Amino acid sequence: MTDTNTLINHALSAREKAYAPYSGYKVGAALLTADGEIYEGCNVENAAYGLCMCAERTAVFKAVSDGERHFTAIAVATENGGSPCGSCRQVLREFAPDLTVIITDTAGNFRETTLADLLPDSFGPEHLLDNE
Ligand code: THU
Repeated sequence: MTDTNTLINHALSAREKAYAPYSGYKVGAALLTADGEIYEGCNVENAAYGLCMCAERTAVFKAVSDGERHFTAIAVATENGGSPCGSCRQVLREFAPDLTVIITDTAGNFRETTLADLLPDSFGPEHLLDNE
């Protein structure tokens, strides 16, 4: 059973790999699958700023492209405990509406919340797949 500290440590480790020469804001994420695998992601910036990719989405896309679709928790690490952006919340929502979200800073201060709290009244696959 993966505990909170393990997931946080993976997020902190992923953050070390961030490519963030423009913002200087390094982000790491560690996404836990239902069967206990951990996928790490970091933000990857680009000289064409609009192409920058967030750490959380890097982790989701790595996992899904590896065949994973069931997730239970994600840890997100930044220097100051920043919260996941709206785009990442929506991408996480596609696969894991009941996700636990752990938000940590580099000093080890963390808080635990849920995707449902971060993205209330959300739009999801059922809205498209259940229509006539
Ligand atoms: N960033 C993330 O990686 N995740 C978020 O949820 C918020 C923002 C990144 C994108 C960009 O590389 C840097 O942080 C500053 O916005």
